[in-house]
Amino acid sequence: MHPLKDRGYQHPISSEITPREAWQSRRQWLQAAALAGTGLAGWTAREALAQPASPPGKLPRLAATRSGVAGAIVMDRPTAYEDITRYNNFYEFGTDKGDPNRLAGSLQTRPWTVSIEGAVHKPRSFGIDDLLKLAPLEDRIYRLRCVEGWSMVIPWVGYSLAQLLRQVEPTGNAKYVEFVTLANPAQMPGLRRGVLDWPYHEGLRLDEAMHPLTLLAFGLYGEVLPKQNGAPVRLVVPWKYGFKSAKSLVKIRLVEQQPVSSWTQAAPSEYGFYSNVNPQVDHPRWSQASERRIGEDGLFARKRPTLMFNGYEAQVGSLYAGMDLKKYY
Ligand code: MTE
Repeated sequence: MHPLKDRGYQHPISSEITPREAWQSRRQWLQAAALAGTGLAGWTAREALAQPASPPGKLPRLAATRSGVAGAIVMDRPTAYEDITRYNNFYEFGTDKGDPNRLAGSLQTRPWTVSIEGAVHKPRSFGIDDLLKLAPLEDRIYRLRCVEGWSMVIPWVGYSLAQLLRQVEPTGNAKYVEFVTLANPAQMPGLRRGVLDWPYHEGLRLDEAMHPLTLLAFGLYGEVLPKQNGAPVRLVVPWKYGFKSAKSLVKIRLVEQQPVSSWTQAAPSEYGFYSNVNPQVDHPRWSQASERRIGEDGLFARKRPTLMFNGYEAQVGSLYAGMDLKKYY
């Protein structure tokens, strides 16, 4: 809020009277913003549907083809690689946004195995190279909305988690899927702090985990995942707040009871099991109605309205038919 308005002034002061050039450019901005609402500003459907973005040439390439999954390519301009890789939440490397970029170099991503166990007919451990070959890699462009109120648009490389889960044949008792990530104190300095109950763990209902949009991601921008983004393999659930998308997965467990995630354990009244993006359900300490798109911090940058299910309602709304989303937040 403007400091003068805080003191009760309602009239515009001279610096607030908008010069002509400014309102003209603001009108242009508003037109651009209206287009942005449709997701088409500066990023045409044709561009979005082509290769998502040119590889930055920093890490080994991961060849992939454009995903045919409904909703897998949003028409928003992808966030810059530099922002995606320097503004991170990966508490195993510290709680500041720049910590993972600075400190994740110590993460050993090979050899790496992911074990799948619990209520499955064929429990198995997969080496990372077997996982990479298990299904064709796809380019997908998803919005990522963090519970803290910021968002990004990330061109991922991966395939639907369902393709992996089918391999192990879940039994009739499998109702939920628990995800466990690496907790190695020798590689992860953040583990020394008890911010969360390590290892970081998360959960989904089986039908959510089997939804084609639920992605097992191995890369972004056409290259292998940078360590700070959850190398060598992570989950991405685009219609849920970002903390559901667990990084650096080591174990996937199919279970009968609803798992308790690290964040729910830490603050049950703030982070529920579902954590579907919902602009109508505020976090107890802040509104979730709008978001700041990382990279749009310029003079005319405005917060964007947050979309129900982060814009994936057409694809996933039916998973929650008849549920009270205020109760099951
Ligand atoms: N996974 C692990 N293992 N540890 C974490 O701290 N943070 C989560 C999620 N996955 C986190 C994690 C949160 S809060 C968000 S918003 C996303 O990762 C951020 O992913 P990004 O840094 O690739 O944007």
